[in-house]
Amino acid sequence: MFNSYPVSAPTLNGNERKYVMDCVDSTWISSKGGYIDRFEEELATFCHAKHAIVCSSGTTALHLALMAYDVQPGDEVMVPTLTFVATANAVTYCGAVPVFVDVDPVTWNMDAALVEAKITPRTKGIIPVHLYGHPADMDPILTIARRHGLFVVEDAAEAIGAQYRGQSVGSIGNAAIFSFFGNKIITTGEGGAVTTNDDTIAAKVRLLRDQGMDRAKRYWYPTIGYNYRMTNVQAAIGCAQLERISWHIEQRTRVAKLYTEFLNECQDVMLPREREWAKSVSWMFSIVLQFGSEVSRDSMQNRLAEVGIETRPFFYPMHRLPPYAHLHENSEFPVANRISTRGLNLPTYAALRREDIDYISGQVKDVVSELSQSE
Ligand SMILES: Cc1ncc(COP(=O)(O)O)c(C=O)c1O
Repeated sequence: MFNSYPVSAPTLNGNERKYVMDCVDSTWISSKGGYIDRFEEELATFCHAKHAIVCSSGTTALHLALMAYDVQPGDEVMVPTLTFVATANAVTYCGAVPVFVDVDPVTWNMDAALVEAKITPRTKGIIPVHLYGHPADMDPILTIARRHGLFVVEDAAEAIGAQYRGQSVGSIGNAAIFSFFGNKIITTGEGGAVTTNDDTIAAKVRLLRDQGMDRAKRYWYPTIGYNYRMTNVQAAIGCAQLERISWHIEQRTRVAKLYTEFLNECQDVMLPREREWAKSVSWMFSIVLQFGSEVSRDSMQNRLAEVGIETRPFFYPMHRLPPYAHLHENSEFPVANRISTRGLNLPTYAALRREDIDYISGQVKDVVSELSQSE
């Protein structure tokens, strides 16, 4: 018999139950209530942003942010090709075209050196993604954006608490988005948020989130909006999670350190490296095989599954997905193509003990050594 390790699992070990019961007892279970205001205030404070507007998911947060920057059909928005599909889809929801950028081989994030060459008269903005918890190199991206009058929305869905040159993600670009899906560093079940220091953008995001209703005139809709609200119950869980966010981040860091200790000697895998200007929150500990192809990576996943270890393949790059493959030549993205076919996320969550990570790492090393010899 062996243990079974999911790739991720939330930990609800604070005031989650108490606050949810408070919602039930008070009957404030819908999208009004004290926990929503509180979660917004505390989230803004945590991210050092002036405003936080919570909503139903990270995906709707992206859509709201792009609409607030008035992204229209025919516009282009730059997105790293190695990301979760929601980053690209939100651009498409606006009728605009996502323009993909290859990634940096060390951080696996948007390669800032490739951005400027992709700017056209139709480019409206850039969405750097802080992939797997490591911040993107923001300064060069912001410099290019300023030079060309583009907005920058950070996709910090996976990276709450990460820092870039001492600054918290969520307060670096013109706006940022977070996800609170169940596998994220802190969760509300489903949920998301937009953060920004810009009063006008914050007001637009709120308007669009709340059906486009004028806040000063009920049932008057100056624009078409959406119901992208978060409920008080979700926000209650979010408040409890946020109270213990330092602990949640410490656990990710502890898990990442242990994997690094156990896997460091393994020549055949690349481990995540933290750049000198970055504080990563190690959302998902990731490895990249230094040999083989997608086939070896997939057989590694199957072999690990046989001994109770669930893993996740890296995201398929956006330029390979059917809705987007016609936009670019595959050869434009050599780094993302190599990394995405060889990358795996290992189980990363607070409940993992040293002996669990020792076991998982041992199995990883055994499978890697077998597969690399058979190549
Ligand atoms: C990079 C990135 N962007 C956006 C999202 C979308 O967030 P959600 O699943 O809350 O809609 C995710 C979620 O996994 C993500 O990883």
